Amino acid sequence: MAARALEWGIHPAVVVEPTCGVGNLLLAAAEEFLAAKVMGYEINPEYASLARERLMGVDACARLVDITVADFFGLQSNDLTRGFDRSILYIGNPPWVTSSAIGALGGENLPVKSNRTGLTGMEARTGKSNFDISQWILERLSQELRRKSGWLVMIVKTSVAKKVLHSLWSADVPIARSAIVHIDANEWFGVSVAACVLMVEFDGRAGPKETDVYRDLAAVSPSHRFGLVAGLVIDNPDQEHPWMSLVAKASNPWRSGVKHDCRAIMELSHVSDDVYVNGEGTHARLEPHFLFPLVRATELYKGTLWNRSRFVLLTQRNLGEDTAAIRYQAPLTWDYLNQYAARLRNRGSSIYKNQPEFAVFGVGDYTFTDWKVAVSALHKSPRFRILPPTALGPVVVDDTCLLYACRSADHAQLILQLLESELASQYFAALMQDEEKRPLKSSMLTNLSLERLAEQMGLKAAFHQVAASETRQIEMF
Ligand SMILES: C[S@@+](CC[C@H](N)C(=O)[O-])C[C@H]1O[C@@H](n2cnc3c(N)ncnc32)[C@H](O)[C@@H]1O
Repeated sequence: MAARALEWGIHPAVVVEPTCGVGNLLLAAAEEFLAAKVMGYEINPEYASLARERLMGVDACARLVDITVADFFGLQSNDLTRGFDRSILYIGNPPWVTSSAIGALGGENLPVKSNRTGLTGMEARTGKSNFDISQWILERLSQELRRKSGWLVMIVKTSVAKKVLHSLWSADVPIARSAIVHIDANEWFGVSVAACVLMVEFDGRAGPKETDVYRDLAAVSPSHRFGLVAGLVIDNPDQEHPWMSLVAKASNPWRSGVKHDCRAIMELSHVSDDVYVNGEGTHARLEPHFLFPLVRATELYKGTLWNRSRFVLLTQRNLGEDTAAIRYQAPLTWDYLNQYAARLRNRGSSIYKNQPEFAVFGVGDYTFTDWKVAVSALHKSPRFRILPPTALGPVVVDDTCLLYACRSADHAQLILQLLESELASQYFAALMQDEEKRPLKSSMLTNLSLERLAEQMGLKAAFHQVAASETRQIEMF
């Protein structure tokens, strides 16, 4: 890795590792960059003292080593480089864990809740605030290098490397050049996840919003390039792709499914008459008013659709709606919810704070339309499905799925035909990144112009017919 950095022309005045562990990487850097000062930060005092001891053993840099016990998230940017503001090399393999995983474990090793990349409102508070800690660290270091100059050479999950580049390019942070060098994480760390060394150079110049991708550390020339086109990151951005004409910002009203963060209680199977059983095996008598047929991502993907027994309890029809009336409209449901009130109040996500009791998210008129086209966001190839209404109400999907509310069966059929076209398949294949946990992003759907797709497929007239009625529908939302 250090040799690769040298080949890239990196000659640092100071090498800094923000989460340096027992100093393996710093040791390698100290041996390679003999003239550089070496600094490390580590939250675990035992690791820090071991790192210090090992680095002091490297004669050439004995006077230049500085290892500090510190929590990276509590450090101000100037604390990190202690007066150096040029030729700073940040190295490391920051922890590969997401903020919500740490939160779920009750851990406090988290950045102070700040608006990392300009996320707003719901985005910042829901799914998009579940980010990789390493991503946060890299973005924070990049912001610092933007003001100073230097390099990032970091081992991260490939998905994180791409997200970091995407966010820097989108925010117009000047990057002189960058590279992604794939590594075998199984061999290095015994984990089976796509990983790479991300190298980024900051010197005030803004190079093209593209990065060279190398197959492995031994590769001399890049296998391909990866870059930003129309706000989306894709492979081979310099080539002309037929689907590129379909990209149009926020042109479709795709939505996430419902979110309640308490599957064991809010999802129930029908037993008989008004008896249902929840995920904990507890039976309850419930009115049908607030229960809706539920389809999950895997069922959507497989096309098995509604299993005729699973329901979800939706306490609201719109965001923030008062839930107190449930007591009178459906007393059995009210009793059931109150039986689990403490659990529901303790749901981890901050989105439920200051909301009515038993609140859910991802609800609006679109949730309750009879006809929908829906897709799993979790699978690597999108399989769109029509969800027709049932005798027991409209079918809803959970927040691992995305949905398009339709006015009628014909409308749903047309939308499905467009999404299943060859051109749309090429669009999704180009944009979806295999290494992502949720490969299908809502932006990929909202930025796909169904109107242009319809034009290219000779379905313009049919599309405009449904689009006219669709506009009226969106105004209602
Ligand atoms: C994957 S290890 C890094 C190993 C290191 N590169 C080496 O060569 O030994 C990640 C390290 O980050 C440290 N760490 C985790 N959270 C931290 C924080 N908030 N501030 C500083 N260090 C932290 C952990 O204690 C762990 O030693």
